[in-house]
Amino acid sequence: MRTSAHAHSVVALLACLDITGAIIIGVKAQQPTSQTTGSADWDLTVPETVPDLNPDPRILEINLTAVVAQVEVSPGRRIEAWTFNGTIPGPLIRLSVGDRLIVHFTNQLPSPTTVHWHGLRVPIQMDGVPGASQAAVETGGTFTYDFIVPDAGLYWYHPHVMSAAQVGFGLYGAFLVDDRSETFKVPDERVFVLSDIDITEQGKLEDPQTGGSTGMAFGREGNTLLVNGRNHPRLTVRSGVTQRWRVVNAAKSRFFDLEPGDGMSFTKIGDDSGLQEYSQQLDSLVLAPGERADVLYTPTAKPGTEYAIHARLFNRGYGSVEARLGEELLDVLVADTPAVTPVPHPKVTRAIEPIAQAGATPVAIEFGIEQSPFDKTFNYTINGKPLDRIPPLKATAGETQIWTVTNTTAWSHPIHLHGFFFQVLNKDGTPRRPLQWKDTVSVPFKDRLTLIVRFDDRSGSWMYHCHILDHAEGGLMSVVRLSRPGEAPPPLPSEHTPHGHSTSGR
Ligand code: C2O
Ligand code: CU
Repeated sequence: MRTSAHAHSVVALLACLDITGAIIIGVKAQQPTSQTTGSADWDLTVPETVPDLNPDPRILEINLTAVVAQVEVSPGRRIEAWTFNGTIPGPLIRLSVGDRLIVHFTNQLPSPTTVHWHGLRVPIQMDGVPGASQAAVETGGTFTYDFIVPDAGLYWYHPHVMSAAQVGFGLYGAFLVDDRSETFKVPDERVFVLSDIDITEQGKLEDPQTGGSTGMAFGREGNTLLVNGRNHPRLTVRSGVTQRWRVVNAAKSRFFDLEPGDGMSFTKIGDDSGLQEYSQQLDSLVLAPGERADVLYTPTAKPGTEYAIHARLFNRGYGSVEARLGEELLDVLVADTPAVTPVPHPKVTRAIEPIAQAGATPVAIEFGIEQSPFDKTFNYTINGKPLDRIPPLKATAGETQIWTVTNTTAWSHPIHLHGFFFQVLNKDGTPRRPLQWKDTVSVPFKDRLTLIVRFDDRSGSWMYHCHILDHAEGGLMSVVRLSRPGEAPPPLPSEHTPHGHSTSGR
């Protein structure tokens, strides 16, 4: 039986952390989790697509309902989770560049919610942020999302109201946009939604506020890893046959660092928004919350054998690796069929222009943390201001901005910008190669990162926030108010906590 031993030890550890540095006292060792071995009938599931209600081949029209439902996370272990259409992850939404999506959304949760289309360049009205885009959808309410998908790649969807709780409870799904002109073909294609969920010993969803503001400061992780909604499932592969994996990290706080198995590697061909400039061979694949990767992978183990793909510990800051263990994420079964001689991975490239830096506006963003001298609670700050006092950034249509994000805190923060892609710059200001279109990137603890973004004319209040959702609610969340010249500034998100009311860190 898994326990929240780690969650509790982190809280114990943070309780004695002064915000300027690392004092480690009395770290309790995490109890090693007993691994269920990949049971014969616990195969990896494929997120299913939902019935298309529209006969037009270029329109996908679906019903999507947020609803509490029983899900089976490991053989015989059922929990009541929050789901889209009754499953974790929700249905795979799959269409091609230029297609139109119509979603008839219904909220059957006991709480208001919305759907945010993470990474998609949609109009602000479709972005799913209460106040900036739409009103929150109350229990029993409906909303129609309707937009064209402009870019190929793997995206994902999740609520934008009380996100730490709602995403943590199971509300997310993958969104795959195919490029009809893509020429290379890989025999086996898969979509992996990686996440975790926090389950109590009684088999219930853990309270999303566990550990109070220290839990918030760390970013609460679930104690049960999930791949497409299943804990430690089994994936059957053929030796020598290349697979293409589109992977999204939908966990609310956890970073994933995947180990490919002995003697094997990943060839990364794409990032958040579609293919990258050229492919890279990697011994490990790191995904911060919200990030995606497109990788080629050729299992070469002997037919009939099994091995594990591990989720290694990743150092995302104080308390994230101390007294913890990595875990087996997936059990890989190599089918007992003759091995195929592996063919080299296709050379996948994409012409991407670096965003021109001439005339760009410099923007400084500093992530900090404060501890109340009175009750010792933590809250995060942007440029020294707590959540309710962060001034919005401003941008005008056509403007290019270079953001320098300084992270003075002891934890890494994956910054996500809604509605736009950016490119990451090196410390010397040159573009990081291979060039990639990103919407989420980790700013490591006690470090700094620079990115460049060009705003188009989709005026609106576009959020940016840390995708460790506890951190967003604890203060690392604000907006870019984008307007066309001469136009009135767009409405701001309702309240200053568009993710919902959170007492953590306040
Ligand atoms: Cu993935 Cu503001 O969200
Ligand atoms: Cu963060």
